[in-house]
This record gives sequence, C-alpha cells and structure tokens, in this order.
Amino acid sequence: MTKVINTINDDILSENICFIPTMGAIHEGHLSLVDIGKETNLKTLVSIFLNRRQFNNDDDFKNYPIELEQDIEFLKSRGVDFIFLPQESYIYPSEGVPSIVPSKVGSILEGASRPGHFEGVLTVVNRLFDLIKPSHAVFGKKDAQQLFLIKDMVNRLDLNIEIIEGEIFRDINGLALSSRNKHLSQDAKLIAANIFKSLQKVAKEINLGKSFEESVELGINSFNQNEIDLDYLEIVDEENFNYPNKYSKKLKLLTAAYVENVRLIDNIDIEI
Ligand code: PAF
Repeated sequence: MTKVINTINDDILSENICFIPTMGAIHEGHLSLVDIGKETNLKTLVSIFLNRRQFNNDDDFKNYPIELEQDIEFLKSRGVDFIFLPQESYIYPSEGVPSIVPSKVGSILEGASRPGHFEGVLTVVNRLFDLIKPSHAVFGKKDAQQLFLIKDMVNRLDLNIEIIEGEIFRDINGLALSSRNKHLSQDAKLIAANIFKSLQKVAKEINLGKSFEESVELGINSFNQNEIDLDYLEIVDEENFNYPNKYSKKLKLLTAAYVENVRLIDNIDIEI
C-alpha cells in the first residue's frame, strides 16, 4: 500500500529507505529508477518537489510540467512505498538550509550554461538526504554531470548513502526520456531523436581511431544538418570530467541542445 506523505516522521526514519528524488512529470525513465529501487528490497520513497532554486531561468521554472495526480497513479502502480510531497516551506524553512557549493566540475558544461543550477541541485538533494536519511538513493545517468556532482558531494560530506546509478531510458527512436519532452510536438520528438544518433556517430568515429576534434566536428555537423540548435558537445574523462588524456579509459560524450526551444541533454559512454 502506497502512503502519500507531506512530512517525514519517526515511522519513516525507523525504516531503511531507498530514495528516488524527482521533480514530478513522472515518465518511464523515473519508473525505471523506481524499479531499481525496489530491487534493493528496502522501502522505496519517491519525492516530488519542483525545486525553484535549481532554475536559473524563471520561465523555465514556470513552464516545468506539473502532473501530480497522474504522477501519483504511476508511482502507486509501480508499488512505491512512500510518495513524499513536501511544501516549499518544509524544504526551505525560514531558518535556512546550508547551501552546497559544487566542486569545480559544477562550473563547466551545464554549470556554464545554467549558472547556479548545480548549487540548487546539491542544496536540495542534501536537504532531502538530511530529512529522509536514506541508506540508498537512485539517480539516472541521463543527468551525468549531476550524478557526478552528487557522488562527489556524498564523498566530500562523508554521507553514509549508497548512490545507485540508473541507465538512460530511451524511446523507440533513441530519444532520452525527460520531463521536458512533454513540451515537444511529435515532429520535434523525431528531430530530437537525432541527438542520440549524432552522439552514436561521434562514438563510432572515435572507436575507428579518428581524433576527438575531428569526431566532434562531425557530430556538430550532424546536429546542424538536423536543425538542432547545439549548446555544447564535449568529451570528458568519466573519472573526473576533465578533458581526456592518454591515461583515460572511459570517456563520456555530453551534449545539450535545443529543439523547438526545449533544452534537452543527453550523453553516451565511450570505451577506449
Ligand atoms: O534530476 C532531478 O530531477 C532533480 O535535479 C533532482 C535530483 C530531483 C533535484 O531536484
């Protein structure tokens, strides 16, 4: 039986919790994280909290899709134990909560395009961790830089929480599922599917031995040909998010791009 709660009480604190944070507009990607959570055999708790502090653009915040009733139905049907729907004043009481400043990786890529975004993310995730005291928490690999910074925060603050990573969930055409996809028309979804195809092209070129620069250049052309408005397309070393060097073993190719003015992010792993 799923319980919908607005505050965290002692009953919840007495459980071992696997926590799945969300901002709502639940889709199969979120539900795949729930399924991973359920595999731990711990009690699962999903939060839905649209965190104003991680939006550097007011319109982006105001336009974020809200589908609370449907979200609750989806989560119930997946057997979530607790759905946590906090008020803003519960998350950010007047006495304030500590702001968590990200390490330097927080100022590149998404951090460069969306100043303050990762400080907002880490601050709310740390606050939620502090309230819920989970033993495990699940985050998706689509937000790869966010995942990196959360693991980094857990280490820096010495939090005793195991972070579990969920694979990117894609639609049949390869488009990574995101709450923002709800703003895309059917045609735009088909165009946006070329984001993943372009990432795959770059990965293939690198595996064939082409230089990173040339491969990324081909990727940029592929974005342009498909009329996708590119913000960035960059390769990093998965270990540290630095530009790869000769010791790098696992790379990540990350992108942010706009289709119909909707900002979409995606990434792909490259083994070398
Ligand atoms: O990935 C998200 O949906 C959000 O950044 C998170 C982790 C729920 C924090 O608001």
